Parts: sequence; structure tokens; C-alpha cells
Amino acid sequence: MRLCMSVAELRAEARRRVPRAIFEYADRGAYDEVTLRRNRAAFDDIELRQRVMIDISQRSVATTVLGQPWSMPVAIAPTGLTGLFHRNGEVEGALAAEAFGVPFALSTMSICSIEDVRAATQQPFWFQLYMLKDRGFNADMVARARGAGCSALILTADLVLQGVRRRDAHNGLTIPPRLTLANALDIMTKPTWALGVLLGKRRTFGNLAGRVEASGGLGTLSQWIASQSDCSITWKQIDWLRSVWPGKIIVKGILDAEDAKLAVAAGVDAIVVSNHGGRQLDGAAASIRALPEVVEAVGGRCEVLFDGGVQCGQDVLKALAYGARACLVGKAFLYGLAAGGRAGVTRMLELLRAELEVSMALTGVTDVREVDARVLRRR
Ligand SMILES: Cc1cc2nc3c(=O)[nH]c(=O)nc-3n(C[C@H](O)[C@H](O)[C@H](O)COP(=O)(O)O)c2cc1C
Repeated sequence: MRLCMSVAELRAEARRRVPRAIFEYADRGAYDEVTLRRNRAAFDDIELRQRVMIDISQRSVATTVLGQPWSMPVAIAPTGLTGLFHRNGEVEGALAAEAFGVPFALSTMSICSIEDVRAATQQPFWFQLYMLKDRGFNADMVARARGAGCSALILTADLVLQGVRRRDAHNGLTIPPRLTLANALDIMTKPTWALGVLLGKRRTFGNLAGRVEASGGLGTLSQWIASQSDCSITWKQIDWLRSVWPGKIIVKGILDAEDAKLAVAAGVDAIVVSNHGGRQLDGAAASIRALPEVVEAVGGRCEVLFDGGVQCGQDVLKALAYGARACLVGKAFLYGLAAGGRAGVTRMLELLRAELEVSMALTGVTDVREVDARVLRRR
């Protein structure tokens, strides 16, 4: 893993190791992928301001978010089907994050269950909730997250309907999954991956076990989830969440100043400025472009986290300069995991930390908590 010198190199390694259908599930976006490309292009377009002859011998990238100390302002975003990228992927990811001192967010649609991750870890992790029509399911998920001592609940707001990811359809990664000749042949060329995932604790949605009668695995459960997605949820759901969840509430998928104000009015503890990594509304703004207006609308009344296109420490620095408290990483996490399991995720985190520290210092800042718009070059 030490030979991988960037997230791009981890991505290349991931591509070699996992079947194409799995790799592209992580790598690609919705429809024409305009927003997916925008997320990256917008970061590349931002110029940092190089400063010199400042004492940068003492440096720190440690911070606090939602009252908790983090070793750097980066958390692992919730990603569905993570356990298909590497055996027990969610547990491996959570352990890497824990050792590194950053939060791990477990998706409702994970392969390992809440209890699997709880049993393997010492530190509280975050749980991401999709609200389904089955209110009993939602209440049960929250109760399980409480039981597992999760420290925050992320409510994902931007996926009540799913944007179409065309590559998934072509690759047979549909609901239910379709085994095409091409992906069957592809899997045969990845025996290490296949053996690993087959030997994993689970191969279907761990949190939904026993939910669907006589569940035939991914297919039946996926159909159930698709039919269960609740398109009618509104900000009122936050009141319900508050009544059953005493901990922190984070709403993920805010891209608009108006929505940010509504989130604040609903009393959430934090929001994640996010376009779901370009996987939902194609044509939406790059997350980093939307960030300043959201930060302004929030006006410090809740914490603002950020995701979408973060692939290096310089991106983290830019997001902080635009007012984010911290970043979440989705694809970068999955590339690391697919490339090398826990060691791959650790490598990804090490790369981001080192890049952030050096780049921050070269803009003349020595403490990450002091990063602001002064690190950006005005044009
Ligand atoms: C393969 C994949 C699966 C994802 N699954 C979920 C999910 O289950 N729940 C969720 O809230 N977000 C999910 N996301 C979105 C991420 O949490 C995050 O918003 C996004 O990945 C950030 O953009 P980035 O991938 O460019 O870092 C997923 C993202 C990817 C790439």
C-alpha cells in the first residue's frame, strides 16, 4: 500500500482488484455524469495562495467536530454495499477510521450489520438512516443504532428517488442484480476478491436480515428497498427523529441556501453539503460551488460538513477555506478499501493527512482550525 502515492493510484489498484461492476458502482455517477465531473473540475479550478517566510515548524491538523476530537477534518462517508468491495468491508473501514481517530459512517444499506460493526470496534461510529415507508423499520433502525452506542445519526435527504446510474444497469448491478456473461467472466479473473467476499460474514444487506420474508438475498431485499423508499418525507420527520434519538442529528444532501435555513430551523446539529458524489441530481452544482452560500445561510447556527469530489488533502484545505468544518470521503474510501482492505483505507487517510498538512503549511497556516478564505488566491 505504501507504494500508492495518491488516491488516484489507489483507484487504479482498486480497478485491478475488484470486478468491473463493483468498481463502476463506486466510480460512476448518475445520467450524463455532468455533476460527477463538476465536483472534480470545480476543485481543480480553485487556486491556493502560496505564502513564504512564515514559521511553519509546528503544525497541527487535529480539530473538533460536534464536540468530539478528530485527528484531522475528514470522516468516512456512508456507502452502501461496502462489504462487496472487500471482505467485511464495513468492519475493516471502521477499524481503520478508529485507529486513525476519525469517524466512520455506516450506511443503512451496508453488508455488515450495525451489530457486526459494534462488536468489532471500541469507539462509537455514525449511522446513516434512509427513511422508508415502513415506519416500524425506521424506528427499529434508530433503536439498533442507539443500542450500538452510535454517536450521530445521518439522515440522507437527497435519495428519496434514485438517479439512474447507467453503468450499473449495463453491468447487471440492477435491482435485482443480473448476472451477465461479461460479469461472470470478469469475476473469474478476480479469484482473490471472490474468495474474500465469499468468506465474509455476510453477502447481503446485513441490517435488513430477517426483514423480508424468505429473502432470497440481494435481489429480493433490493426490490423491497426500492418499493419502500418514502418520497413523502419533509422536515417534520426531524421532530419524529428527535423524539426517538437523543444524540446528534446530521442531515446530508443539502445543496441550497434555502434548504440549509430550513435544516437550521428544524434544529439539526449539522448538515452535509452534498450532491451524493454526483450520483443523484445530474446537472446539480458541484458541492464545493454550493458550499459558500450554504455556509453564509447557516451563519454558524449548526456545523457544516462537506462532501463531493474530495480526492486529496488540497481538496480538504479548499473546502475548509470555503467554510466547511470537515469533509466526508466516499469514493476515496472505497478505492482504498478495494485496493487493500483496512491497510488501503489507512493509506488513503495517511495520504489525505500528509497532503493537507503540507499544503496548509505552504499557504502559511499551521493550525487547521485557523484555515479560512485567506488560503485562497483571489482572482
Ligand atoms: C458506492 C457509493 C455508495 C453510496 N451509498 C450511500 C448510502 O448508502 N447512503 C448515503 O447517505 N450516501 C451514500 N453515498 C454517498 C456518499 O455518502 C457521499 O455523499 C459521496 O460519496 C461523496 O462524494 P465522493 O464519493 O466524491 O467523496 C454513496 C456513495 C458511493 C460512491
